[in-house]
Amino acid sequence: MIPINRPILGLEEEELVLKVLRSGQLTNASMAGGHMVKRFERSLAEYLGCKDVVVVSSGTAALQIALMALNVGLGDEVLVPSFTFTATANSVLAVGATPVFVDIDEYYTMDVEDARKKITKRTKAIMPVHLYGHVAEMRAIRELAKEYSLIVIEDAAQALGSKYEGRPVGLLGEAGCFSFHPSKIITTGEGGAISTNDEELARLARMIRNHGMVKGYDTCRLGLNFRMSEIHAAIGVAQMIKLEDFLKKRRENARRLRELLDGIDGIKLPEERPNTVYNWYLFTIASPKREKMRKELEKAGIGARIYYETPVHMLPLFKGKVRLPMTERMAKEVLSLPVHPMVNEEDLERTALAVRTTLKP
Ligand SMILES: Cc1ncc(COP(=O)(O)O)c(C=O)c1O
Repeated sequence: MIPINRPILGLEEEELVLKVLRSGQLTNASMAGGHMVKRFERSLAEYLGCKDVVVVSSGTAALQIALMALNVGLGDEVLVPSFTFTATANSVLAVGATPVFVDIDEYYTMDVEDARKKITKRTKAIMPVHLYGHVAEMRAIRELAKEYSLIVIEDAAQALGSKYEGRPVGLLGEAGCFSFHPSKIITTGEGGAISTNDEELARLARMIRNHGMVKGYDTCRLGLNFRMSEIHAAIGVAQMIKLEDFLKKRRENARRLRELLDGIDGIKLPEERPNTVYNWYLFTIASPKREKMRKELEKAGIGARIYYETPVHMLPLFKGKVRLPMTERMAKEVLSLPVHPMVNEEDLERTALAVRTTLKP
């Protein structure tokens, strides 16, 4: 079975992890972090072209830290899409704030007009998600944020390598948050990062990841243990060397799959929003025949997956009265197909054939 995504690890990761194990320095509780953490941070900052990156224990932690560092908390509302992984909304709850769910547009990202309608006196931040690597309409989101003095935190967990008007995502607001879970573009096992051009924000994020300490045990503000270990960071350093190749292969696979699926009636194919570049983390199609299609793909050995069958506003934890028509419709129709770097021409042909078979009249 071709999985929807998988970590791609090799000798480079093994060598760097071994180096850490042999050094005996498995983690480092100084504010700046250990040698591998610093190397990984430099490499990410260089790739993104930003002043600073702070690596942490997960993408969820990155979101929570960004909110904490930007003083979002009790009594505040944060605009989030519901069509996302629950971590986006959970991180808002974790700081005592309230997630306010916003519908999506045709690219599966935040509908800016619906976001505008949901602004209240309590709205403090807006958290667009670049779902599937599709880039949210950041110009309009930034304008809205400026009009209402809102903080913008990008949930770029799925979007390392995606670009908006030539600029990498993660730098289009106050902070960007990435995930390095094994299903993501690059992995560290578990891990995350906060990208920013704001030096003070980076300093606060470093404090929060380490119990609010600056020097020794001098806790100056609330923080927790959100550190990334040296072992995880070592994997990240090796993965960064391969990032451009991973992205190139994903793009080639997505282009080829699009070619193979072209002209089929009854499905919505993924489109790159004008002035954006997708990292092709997922190649997501939509069809009312999604369930039949998923079964046909499974028979063909293709691990197509549904992200996300239950939108966050309909999960038991969040169940409320809000209705989000586009989100609820797309949750019934979307299906993501594998285009990761290990997918080959034969896999893509099998994928396209299974999709065509489902839709045959
Ligand atoms: C959109 C989104 N936000 C946040 C996260 C949280 O990242 P992590 O699993 O590294 O905590 C994920 C990860 O799956 C995600 O897909």
